[in-house]
Amino acid sequence: MLDMTGSPMLDNGNELTVTVDALGPRGDGIADSEAGRLYIAGALPGEIVRVRTLGKRGGGLAAKLLEVCTSAPERVGPSCRHFAACGGCTVQHLDMASYRVWKQGLVATAVARVGFKPDVVAPLVATVTDGRRRATFAAFRPRAKRAKFFFGFHARASRHVVELEQCLILRPELMELVPQLRAILLDLVPPGARWDVSMTLADNGIDLLIAANHDPGPDAGKALAMFADAQDIARIAWRHTQQSEVEPVAFRQVPVLEISGVSVEIPPGVFLQASADAERVLGELVTAAAGGARVADLYCGVGTFALPLAAAGANVIAVDGDAAAIGALARAAGMAGFGGQVETEVRDLVRRPLAAADLAGAETIVFDPPRGGAQVQVAEIAQTNAARVVAVSCNPTTFARDARTLADAGFTLQRVTPVDQFIWSGHVELVGVFSRL
Ligand SMILES: C[S@@+](CC[C@H](N)C(=O)[O-])C[C@H]1O[C@@H](n2cnc3c(N)ncnc32)[C@H](O)[C@@H]1O
Repeated sequence: MLDMTGSPMLDNGNELTVTVDALGPRGDGIADSEAGRLYIAGALPGEIVRVRTLGKRGGGLAAKLLEVCTSAPERVGPSCRHFAACGGCTVQHLDMASYRVWKQGLVATAVARVGFKPDVVAPLVATVTDGRRRATFAAFRPRAKRAKFFFGFHARASRHVVELEQCLILRPELMELVPQLRAILLDLVPPGARWDVSMTLADNGIDLLIAANHDPGPDAGKALAMFADAQDIARIAWRHTQQSEVEPVAFRQVPVLEISGVSVEIPPGVFLQASADAERVLGELVTAAAGGARVADLYCGVGTFALPLAAAGANVIAVDGDAAAIGALARAAGMAGFGGQVETEVRDLVRRPLAAADLAGAETIVFDPPRGGAQVQVAEIAQTNAARVVAVSCNPTTFARDARTLADAGFTLQRVTPVDQFIWSGHVELVGVFSRL
């Protein structure tokens, strides 16, 4: 059964008092009870808590925290007033030192599970707190007459939309646009519709991409174009969720981002690291680890690593499945005078991985796949004689699997550096460095 906002209604489970044993990878307190394993949002290890069981989760049950009977010494008040309701941050109730140990531990646990020593994992590298330059807001108007309009982030594991007055992790320029955006969408989102509004802060303004299961129509298109003029928004694009094409609604400037001193024109909806600060840290870790005159950058996107590698003097073969990203990288490299150094290819690396023979000339191979990892491509990388492999990943579990493949083929995992790109959440970015010794 769904409530007014389209979220499942909570069932009335059992009330239990339990002791929390651990903090799980999603930031939930984990406790074993007579009802089975419980996942309790907001609970910390060592705490005695009163909970009510909710629906099934994995092999156990989700549980709602009703009362902290005995609190952990590491418990702190959350920094954001929306923490209890919003699904964006999950671990603001733990002091910063313990939080960092927990997050580093997520990576150490994943690599230890496949046989590496946990001490191969360096301490967590922090990045600026309010550095998030992209975020997707949900705009939702229920079908019922006179139903309230919602604009905000999803609540945890829910389609319920939480309205925000503040967000401590977003770049302030994005948060400043939220009231104006809410005001215009209030007039435009039709009953029963849900729009996903992705905001990206480029160097020359904000880039908006709206995804919905219908076309904007002339009235909404015109209103959005006027909104772009009034708010000095660089571009507003629209993506019908059943079609792959993105169409411009308002195109005032091409959004650009500077990567390693090179100006890159950003296609709508293309992958970008979530924060410029984390992008800088990752770029520094990758370029410091890479060596040799020839580098392959697989899953290269718009050139987050290919451009700093070229700037450091390497010849780079940059490959990605997204033609728009590759086009942007090729143009940027050409304009910056790196055209002769950066060779690009659009290629699906799952269906058509580069064979070990194709990678034979590369002294370093960098790969940065989506969350599912790069199993098929890594099987080929493992067969190369590359002196170094640098893996960038946002998923410690698939990274560990791929690292095991490389280690079994004779690569040594030198170190793994976790980078806190997604502060106060269970997500973590990492850079793993391998060498043939
Ligand atoms: C985590 S992003 C990394 C991009 C880039 N390294 C960066 O840091 O900005 C993963 C990239 O993999 C690309 N990708 C996803 N699936 C792919 C596939 N099957 N073959 C090739 N590239 C793929 C995406 O287009 C995206 O650019």
